[in-house]
Amino acid sequence: MTTTEPMPSEQTVYGEFDFRAYANDPDRISDFSVFNDDVTSLIHTVEDNADAIFTWGYGKGERANLDKLYEKAKTSQWNGQTDLDWSIDVDPYAVLAPANPDEVAYFAENPDSPLHKLTEDEWADLGVESMNWSLSQFMHGEQGALLCTAKIVETVPWIDAKYYAATQVVDEARHVEVFAQYLDQKLDGIKYPVNTHLGTLLDDILRDNRWDMTYLGMQIMVEGLALAAFSFMHQTTEEPLLKKLLRYVMSDEARHVAFGVLSLQEVYQELTVAELRDRQEFAFEAALRMRDRFMRQEVWERMGVDVKEMVEFTLAMPDDLRLFQRLLFSKIVPNCKKLGLLDAGDGWLRDRFTDIGVIQFEDWVDTGEEYADLDEVAKDREMAGG
Ligand SMILES: [Fe+2]
Ligand SMILES: [Fe+2]
Repeated sequence: MTTTEPMPSEQTVYGEFDFRAYANDPDRISDFSVFNDDVTSLIHTVEDNADAIFTWGYGKGERANLDKLYEKAKTSQWNGQTDLDWSIDVDPYAVLAPANPDEVAYFAENPDSPLHKLTEDEWADLGVESMNWSLSQFMHGEQGALLCTAKIVETVPWIDAKYYAATQVVDEARHVEVFAQYLDQKLDGIKYPVNTHLGTLLDDILRDNRWDMTYLGMQIMVEGLALAAFSFMHQTTEEPLLKKLLRYVMSDEARHVAFGVLSLQEVYQELTVAELRDRQEFAFEAALRMRDRFMRQEVWERMGVDVKEMVEFTLAMPDDLRLFQRLLFSKIVPNCKKLGLLDAGDGWLRDRFTDIGVIQFEDWVDTGEEYADLDEVAKDREMAGG
């Protein structure tokens, strides 16, 4: 199922496996990516096991929801070069979002914290490194989305979905472009490779031969989390260029997640309990990898902080401080519920989301229709009278 340290296979009796311990295993989570100066490794190849599918059913609008999304996507395009003001000067030390003071206190004032002895300058550097790392991971994730949606164009059997996915390929190219440009021009370059946990997840999604798994992994899990993370950063940064950039990207991402929800709703109605269980396991593994990727392993390595100690200290953080970590799941859990994945079979995924403390989002708004409200491009045009 996965490339590294997978969950137990079907032969294992699930009742005896401690998912909570697996989820919080510091050795597993401490893995981090290393910098690679070897130019022959500029590219990374993943085997794509899926069939490319033609359809001779050209009836546009047979899936009305997807057709509506396609038409919306065509009128909501923006241009990263002309719609953003790249002349804005950015001070990397001032881009930072104001951190949650209780969380800062936990890491700065607790004598057991690996960060306890950081000087004021080191804290400032940590902030700059963390921002560069976050935007680098966003950018790498966007490239994952670019490849995944190109794959969906090939593998989905419905013409309305192929049409829509083609617009998403353009969206994702634009997202990679603007994050790369922001890092290059405003934040001293791309300093971080793709995080180990994010990278292995992207590989697994691309490698799977079942077309709906590309949707589940990318549209529901990765993009659902990205939408929540972009939204959080958008609300907390005061830097006007980044704020606008994130707002435009979010307009697109809301459509992308809707595409996943609207497509998979139809597919999952037809699946057996055993097939749905495969999807539940895939969703849980993806959720863990994404939670783990936010531990900033590569930043600690660069700052000379012991990665495993930081992972252990972060895992021990009191629940009431975990606001950000939990909010990341605020889109994923309701969307999984809408797809019937939470409670399919014996409710296996509900139990796992309970194990990792994110089940409370199940009744938050799902993303099937949210894209209309989030469309910033349409709002800007209206204001400009266009
Ligand atoms: Fe994107
Ligand atoms: Fe996207």
